[in-house]
Amino acid sequence: METTLIILKPDAVQRGLMGQIISRFENKGLAIVGCRMMTISQELAAVHYEAHKERPFYKGLVAFMTSSPVLVMAVRGVGAIDIARKMMGATFGSTAEPGTIRGDYGVSNSFNLIHGSDSADAAEREIGLFFNDGEVQNPSRAIEGWVYDMSGDQPE
Ligand code: RTP
Ligand code: MG
Repeated sequence: METTLIILKPDAVQRGLMGQIISRFENKGLAIVGCRMMTISQELAAVHYEAHKERPFYKGLVAFMTSSPVLVMAVRGVGAIDIARKMMGATFGSTAEPGTIRGDYGVSNSFNLIHGSDSADAAEREIGLFFNDGEVQNPSRAIEGWVYDMSGDQPE
């Protein structure tokens, strides 16, 4: 099982799209195991996006991410990191494929609704940035045996 860090960005919250986006992850069979609404500080945005520090869009990105509340989620499932990235679609709303979150709900390149960790290392790092120890839950889901084939060693 993998856990990925998802952020519903200020535009998704302001546009009232939280429920529809959360439903997509739940409908897929992924589990929401952490959830937190917050306004991201300048300091946290700077750490979260430090890889983009030298990019021309960095200043605008930090201003956007700190401009209004976000919903931060820990989302769990087998292959959850790649699955969530596929569900999000390409970075820019103008080019993201229909059927993806960015493709279906947005047209903007900068205001692209959602963040998802892009690797296992990033997921671990980002979950540590946004959640304190013990805040991410570890529920045993009653439906697990219908979401996955549990007849082997691993959920399939
Ligand atoms: P994210 O990190 O938010 O999940 O998005 P991503 O991996 O698809 O894209 P990334 O290259 O990591 O860029 C981070 C965020 O910066 C904004 N951006 N704006 N105007 C631009 O050229 C530009 N390029 C990137 C987007 O908000 C993007 O999600
Ligand atoms: Mg990224």
